Amino acid sequence: MADSLINENPPVHPMQLWAIILAAGKGTRLSEHLQGTAKQFIYHKDLPLYMHSALTISSYAMLKGIVFVFPEEYVSQEHPLIIAQSARLGVDIKVVSGGVRRQDSVQCGLRALPPQCSHVLVHDSARPFVSIALVHRLCEALQAGASGVIPTIPVVDTIKEIVSGLVKSTPPRESLFAVQTPQGFVRHILEQAHAKAEEEKSSVTDDASVLELLGHTVHTVPGEAENIKITHVDDLMKLQNTPSTRPCVGFGYDVHRFAILTKGEGEDAKNRPLKLGGVFMDGAMHVVAHSDGDVLLHALMDALLGATALGDIGLHFPDSSAVYDNADSAVLLQEVLRLVKQKGLEIHHIDLTIITQKPKISPQRNAIQKNVAHLLGLSQDRVNIKATTEEGLGFTGHGEGIKATAVVSGTIHSSTF
Ligand code: CTP
Ligand code: MG
Repeated sequence: MADSLINENPPVHPMQLWAIILAAGKGTRLSEHLQGTAKQFIYHKDLPLYMHSALTISSYAMLKGIVFVFPEEYVSQEHPLIIAQSARLGVDIKVVSGGVRRQDSVQCGLRALPPQCSHVLVHDSARPFVSIALVHRLCEALQAGASGVIPTIPVVDTIKEIVSGLVKSTPPRESLFAVQTPQGFVRHILEQAHAKAEEEKSSVTDDASVLELLGHTVHTVPGEAENIKITHVDDLMKLQNTPSTRPCVGFGYDVHRFAILTKGEGEDAKNRPLKLGGVFMDGAMHVVAHSDGDVLLHALMDALLGATALGDIGLHFPDSSAVYDNADSAVLLQEVLRLVKQKGLEIHHIDLTIITQKPKISPQRNAIQKNVAHLLGLSQDRVNIKATTEEGLGFTGHGEGIKATAVVSGTIHSSTF
């Protein structure tokens, strides 16, 4: 929450929040290292830099739309990419060309806002690492009634005012803060303030400055050290080193019928000796299956595919295909592992449950745990095997079949998000 929010009026109606993503600068300080390309258009993880903050800000649930501000000569070039990302952005989109100075570009963005927009976040696209948490802090302050709110970071260095190479003064460090974007505003107040700055021919480097000119209070929220502005050549290194991981979870579920009930059902019945996690359960009922019927490995494969958004085993190994007749599920699992590894999955933990009235699993629990861990290349403390009956209820309780569930947790490592 912003500091000392006491004076202004909270909005009566729900906020109609838009963002202006500024990408109309020349990137002069970097362009010679980028063969003339303005920094906001360099590619990072398969997207131009300006798209990264746009995707983060657009995922904030209250955001209604984004105005992209580009140099005139880039507008038509970037349009198709924005269209291609529009489903992911999921908000209204406008694209306009900017002006000579940053504040001219902001005004171009403001003119493109729809009438119903009540609040606006202005963001420099050269800050690709803004977080959703920071956007939330700003919006909380706006909802509480702030006219303007900015993210700040206390400075660690002593700052001097220097004129013609000579120190003029040393302002007390406690009161000095570096300022970031996004900066949040009541839309009409920001418009008035920019008009006033224009009238007075004031040049400013951020939007809070124009509110200050009008005498409005500007509130603050904590900024973020990671929310850097890509400015100098060293900053390009930070683009290479940013972590690209996200946690994931997958769930799998499978059922097989016990063969005992299929006697006399005809030639097609495919009875397989019961195997769980690749371990034969000697003396147990057989199951009906196209493959080897390892219900536990099937649930596990679905969980792995679930964690990586790769569908399910039916999609990859259709039971209409003769290739998978009596297929060894351990072999299919190796193929699933290949697919999920391609997607960047690092498995953290596997939790498996077998649900059956019979046979009793506990004598084989360790063997199953050991084999599943082996098949996955994991240590045994990352694989848990549970078993339960359903107390004589339902199809497992009546001994008609067996089911299994699997939960996989992990991390996806990728260069594309
Ligand atoms: N910006 C803009 N229109 C301008 C000038 C700047 O939209 N006429 C944008 C930049 O694209 C950037 C942000 O405002 O996202 C902050 O500007 P800055 O970091 O100074 O970027 P550049 O002006 O592009 O870089 P440089 O100062 O090195 O030329
Ligand atoms: Mg600049």
